[in-house]
Amino acid sequence: MTKLLVVDSEKTIGLLLKDLLQDTGYNAHFTSSEEEACTLYQKNSFDIILTDLKGKNVDDFPFIQQIKHIDPDALIIVITGNQSFESIQTVLRLGVFDYITKPFNIDEISFSINRAISYLKLESINKALMQDLERHNRQLEKVVKERTEGLQFLFNITREIYSTLGLREVIRIIVNKVVAVLNVDKCAILLFDKEAEVLVIKFSHGLDPKWVGQTRVKRGDEISGQIFNDQEATLIPDIEKDSRFQDLRQEAYYSGSFICVPLVIKGELVGLINVNDKKTKEPLTNEDFEFVKELASEASIAIENAHLYDSLKQTSLDAFMVLTSAIDDKDHYTKKHSLDVTKVSLALAEKMGLSENELTDIRRAALLHDIGKIGIHDDILIKKEDLTESEWTEMRSHPLKGGGILRPLYFLENVIAYIEQHHEWYDGTGYPQGLKGEQISLGARIISVADSFCAMITERPHRQAFTRQQAIEEIKRNKGSQFFPEVVDVFVELMSENPDLLT
Ligand SMILES: [Fe+2]
Ligand SMILES: [Fe+2]
Repeated sequence: MTKLLVVDSEKTIGLLLKDLLQDTGYNAHFTSSEEEACTLYQKNSFDIILTDLKGKNVDDFPFIQQIKHIDPDALIIVITGNQSFESIQTVLRLGVFDYITKPFNIDEISFSINRAISYLKLESINKALMQDLERHNRQLEKVVKERTEGLQFLFNITREIYSTLGLREVIRIIVNKVVAVLNVDKCAILLFDKEAEVLVIKFSHGLDPKWVGQTRVKRGDEISGQIFNDQEATLIPDIEKDSRFQDLRQEAYYSGSFICVPLVIKGELVGLINVNDKKTKEPLTNEDFEFVKELASEASIAIENAHLYDSLKQTSLDAFMVLTSAIDDKDHYTKKHSLDVTKVSLALAEKMGLSENELTDIRRAALLHDIGKIGIHDDILIKKEDLTESEWTEMRSHPLKGGGILRPLYFLENVIAYIEQHHEWYDGTGYPQGLKGEQISLGARIISVADSFCAMITERPHRQAFTRQQAIEEIKRNKGSQFFPEVVDVFVELMSENPDLLT
């Protein structure tokens, strides 16, 4: 019911108006005091104020000004006997809703009140619409902001992917980014092995390693194989409720909510990205799905580049390996020397707890450590007699020659250092640069011990081969001068644990 406050200094008229309004069906209140009216208005939620007008000038209407000060939107209907143009102009400027002149009749007042009520209704609809609009605008702003941030993020990830060339590294970055951005428990990239015709997990987060190693999915089999066959990116909010996957045997890592997006390179399907289970236990959303799809299309290009890069890298390495075995063949006293050095170096490095990347570098460096001998004259390389001083000088140039040969392959940066330093001594009396102690790279310290051991147990033109035990003793004897003490300690342990190494 509309709530009205009648304010009139003439009590009789005010009460009469209040009664008339109540009879007409309004909830009307009356006061003759303007001060009390202000207090009442502040305490109660009146819809409309009806008041008389006594003054002639602006300064004479303090009550209207006070009410407007309390509530600028207050609806005030003025009833007055003062009909001067100046007064009408003044009260309208003060923001009163309507102006009724005395003598009034109740119909006229009812009409004005109804107009005010309609105005109130429109005003409230308008307010609701405005609030709605503001809320939509805020939502829109949020979506635009999130989308922009998402694109920026994607751009950064893409840049990171493209600046990384190796396939393993590209796949690792993609999986780790998906896990971090979508806050999920599990993510895996499966690539299709064309020869075996199965999908194999190449890198994963949150999966049981035993499954990662074992998982081989044929086309059409299980969930991955099915999606791979259909070539359709899929978002499943709850796998339990999805009839498409009810009859399929689930791989161990599928649960709850998942996204599976095929990776396509030049129209050819090469693999899948699987994303599982948000940490918050909420289902994966459409926004998550869009993110994975966009990332998948960028990832596909990066994976292709990485494939090309890796195969190019392998081709270069293969070519150098042919050269190395040619040197080993030529210097027939050290046949298989490079392979033997690699075997011992890797065993040492593994025992020392080196990382997988370091092991890769050591394997390559050990296989190629004498590649510089390709630049040494055959006569010197296969000479049975003692070498002259100048011949030794040439022979000693092979580490740097090896580095020079491999330098164009910038992915072999560490490998080149190991090769150039494999004849340096712990005490600084080695060659070619006379490096000492910590100046010598870890890979070179390891290869140096392995290289010397393999050389000693091989027969030379000018001497018999050392027995295995003699060679070990010789290495021990040179601990702290030629060889790093820590590497020698690990070597001695390794040899006692693996008496069959190299036999
Ligand atoms: Fe060497
Ligand atoms: Fe060697």
